[in-house]
Amino acid sequence: MIKEKFNLEGKVAVITGASKGIGKAIALGFAEFGAHVVVSSRSEEAVKNVETEFKSKGFSVSSLKCHVGNKEDRINLIETTLKAHGRIDILVNNAGTNPYFGPIHKMPAEAYQKTMDINLNSAIELSNLVYPIMKSQNSGNIIHISSIEGIHPSKFMSAYNISKAALIMLTKNQSIEWGKYNIRVNAICPGYVKTKLSSGLLEFEGAEERLVNNVSLRRASNPDEMAGLAVFLASEASSYVTGTSIVNDGGLLNSPIF
Ligand SMILES: NC(=O)c1ccc[n+]([C@@H]2O[C@H](COP(=O)([O-])OP(=O)(O)OC[C@H]3O[C@@H](n4cnc5c(N)ncnc54)[C@H](OP(=O)(O)O)[C@@H]3O)[C@@H](O)[C@H]2O)c1
Repeated sequence: MIKEKFNLEGKVAVITGASKGIGKAIALGFAEFGAHVVVSSRSEEAVKNVETEFKSKGFSVSSLKCHVGNKEDRINLIETTLKAHGRIDILVNNAGTNPYFGPIHKMPAEAYQKTMDINLNSAIELSNLVYPIMKSQNSGNIIHISSIEGIHPSKFMSAYNISKAALIMLTKNQSIEWGKYNIRVNAICPGYVKTKLSSGLLEFEGAEERLVNNVSLRRASNPDEMAGLAVFLASEASSYVTGTSIVNDGGLLNSPIF
């Protein structure tokens, strides 16, 4: 039955940046479909709170502090999860940042480096940590949270654009190298989702109105509108889907020129 293919019971999922926003919504979605979810972010307190909240709803959850830019934290996240559960089925590289708004030629080198370290390099490093585990299971699923900003340029978020575009290519490269071990790799490209991260965009005058006018559905999305797609990609319902980046933007990229 197709319905059963969405079932995530018995699966162990690690989600970075899951204390709020899109990562938390995806973790909740996975938990609702039966997975054990490991929620992580830089703040031990914040992820503990998510753990408590999910447990109160009856879900299987644990939490670990992990600053994805920190090598020891990354290793600890994967090793501790493996030790506790004996397997890792799903990795969602969701943690992201955008420390700089402005022209390329004025971008501080540190801001560029931070953007690449958090948005791109950590996804490569964490994927490389789960790769041998998933290879030995002959089964695994990696989802990168890219963005429509990885497809379409912006005037003031170039490092962010570059990092998100690179995630789309990383998705393709990993999928061709790891497909033979039944490891699927896909990306989600959200449009405009109402979260703390995107709130910085709205500081520009009239930004929200302009954004929403370009969205076919005439509204921003809520984080939970990213979760259904993530459940699909993480589950057997998408068993033949790999190497692709799926846009979930209410039609924003489809905005007409004329
Ligand atoms: N919102 C949008 O419109 C939008 C659109 C396209 C793509 N995205 C992407 O979606 C992903 C999630 O963003 P969001 O909008 O949900 O943002 P958010 O609500 O601000 O949440 C970001 C999450 O990442 C965590 N985080 C930040 N830096 C981290 C780090 N260095 N290590 C580990 N965790 C870290 C934060 O938790 P702590 O503060 O507790 O560490 C938080 O849980 C990002 O990759 C973003 O680029 C967002």
